[in-house]
Amino acid sequence: MVVTEDQLTTRERPDFSRHANQAATAPAYFSCWDVHAYYGESYIVQGVSFNVHEGEILALLGRNGAGKTSTLRALARLADPEVKRGEIWLDHKPLHDMASHEAAASGLQLVPEDRRIIAGLTVEENLQLAQIAPPIGWSLERIYELFPRLGERRRQEGVTLSGGEQQMLAIARALARNIKVLLLDEPYEGLAPVIVDEIEKTLNIIKEQGITTVIVEQNAIRALMLADRAVILDTGTVVFDGTAQEVLDDEALRAEYLAI
Ligand SMILES: Nc1ncnc2c1ncn2[C@@H]1O[C@H](COP(=O)(O)OP(=O)(O)O)[C@@H](O)[C@H]1O
Ligand SMILES: [Mg+2]
Repeated sequence: MVVTEDQLTTRERPDFSRHANQAATAPAYFSCWDVHAYYGESYIVQGVSFNVHEGEILALLGRNGAGKTSTLRALARLADPEVKRGEIWLDHKPLHDMASHEAAASGLQLVPEDRRIIAGLTVEENLQLAQIAPPIGWSLERIYELFPRLGERRRQEGVTLSGGEQQMLAIARALARNIKVLLLDEPYEGLAPVIVDEIEKTLNIIKEQGITTVIVEQNAIRALMLADRAVILDTGTVVFDGTAQEVLDDEALRAEYLAI
């Protein structure tokens, strides 16, 4: 049964924030602490904190407009939104003092929603371009082993790939750079369920190889099935921090913050 808003009085309303920041004091591989970020005057990321352990997959969820993309962009140190307060740490390095290229060189790779495949370049050239800046990440051989389809299409122009293949190329490009943490913004968007299965399988293999992943998805159920832990955002703040299973088991929580 789904509990609706009006069935819950304020007193009965479950305290979803009970888990918020619970793990903030535990040692973590990748963490953000009290991050506040603005687009100009617009205050969007309003004190976000969470921890991700090495090799873990974290699902960062929330309704449309909750601030998921903005949080990923702030973590990746892009110019917008501007981080005005807070700390971001990766493997003992302070990312909050870095520009985006320095954060990327430190191993934080963002795969944006639009995938950014470069037109006019083949699959292999897209990958080689990602390898230019040292330190070099995965070799082409290792990438083609994980994505045989990209190997078969290495000489094809990247933008002529199918949506699923372009998503694979976008992930492969992140692996070709120095990779410690993969930030994925809506990787399943617009893809057929069978292609989502394939990408999910790949993300599990990447996890087995020790990469830490933060996945933002509107397809929350699929993301929760993949993830170890989940953080839910609402209007730029963390309203839940716990295991993915807890969210799958809690219909009221999902109805309240994910509308599913
Ligand atoms: N470039 C921008 N300038 C101003 N406001 C923005 C910009 N991008 C996003 N926002 C606002 O920030 C809020 C969070 O957006 P976003 O992070 O994209 O949410 P989500 O990814 O969870 O759907 C929204 O209210 C959105 O309108
Ligand atoms: Mg978004």
